[in-house]
Amino acid sequence: MIHRPRRLRGNEILRKMVRETRVSKSSLIYPIFIKEGTGIKEEIRMMPGQYRYSVDRMEEKLLQLKKAGVSSVMFFGIPAGKDAVGSGAYAADGIIQQALKEAKKQFGSELYLITDVCMCEYTSHGHCGILHGLEVDNDETLKVLARTALSHAQAGADMVAPSDMMDGRVAAIRGQLDVHGFTTVPIMSYAVKYASGFYGPFREAAGSAPSFGDRKSYQMDWHNRKEGLKEVLTDIEEGADIIMVKPALAYQDMIREAAELVHVPVAAYSVSGEYSMVKAGAKAGFIEEDRIVAEMAVGAFRSGASIYLTYFAEEVARLIDQGAIG
Ligand code: PBG
Repeated sequence: MIHRPRRLRGNEILRKMVRETRVSKSSLIYPIFIKEGTGIKEEIRMMPGQYRYSVDRMEEKLLQLKKAGVSSVMFFGIPAGKDAVGSGAYAADGIIQQALKEAKKQFGSELYLITDVCMCEYTSHGHCGILHGLEVDNDETLKVLARTALSHAQAGADMVAPSDMMDGRVAAIRGQLDVHGFTTVPIMSYAVKYASGFYGPFREAAGSAPSFGDRKSYQMDWHNRKEGLKEVLTDIEEGADIIMVKPALAYQDMIREAAELVHVPVAAYSVSGEYSMVKAGAKAGFIEEDRIVAEMAVGAFRSGASIYLTYFAEEVARLIDQGAIG
């Protein structure tokens, strides 16, 4: 008999035995919006199923996550007031700082608290830094970012995640954290962050759309691949412990290349627009939500990510429990 090359076939047990990608709940991070005020749980119009919570209402969601087996959250703050220099970002009683203190009090080390470090939710003009004329002043912004990251660590952040894309921010933040004794607080840097239309719903959620211009002077042109790899290398040199690729969908080549290039964990952020598209498509009856969520998650891990940030974290956890993925 002549041997004929063929694909491995078999039952469910064999298929699971030879699976090349394993997904675990411990790799999931859930992004959550915390809004200044009390008694708030309001649905984000463009992100059905996602809410803005005030500090006194967030426990409900955090408990739900913990129960689902999702132990890491990333906080985004929505302050009551904004100013030109984004001083709410580093205020000792700022919204994120309050949320961190409360979450630490309620959950101790049972939840891992990560903070997004950026100015855009806190500046009246909506840009990610301090303006000089109509341009963001890179170096002035570094000081504020470092101060913000420090205030997060002081309030109880386990990890900080700068998303502003200023040059030199990882070094500035690392330096400031170290000087104040937070040497073990890791930095997850948004290294490969494109100027993407996929962030649209987030800007509605956080009220952080720029009031003029766009973010193209500091976020990357999505035609570029080498530029992204350069950002990865620079951020690691400056002290990043984990690097992130964002968005995840449409950028899986960058996840793969980053994972092959460096030896730090690579995180993929499935952003607001990805969530909204799935929700809208499923609501219209055009796609099956669970299957799409599963394929997007596995796709990110198959591409080389070992950490996945997603608004679907609870759903991914459920799909793992149901054996649909993993
Ligand atoms: C802050 C920040 C943004 C996102 C994460 N951090 C918005 C932006 O850069 O415009 C987007 C996340 C999402 O779309 O889910 N700079």
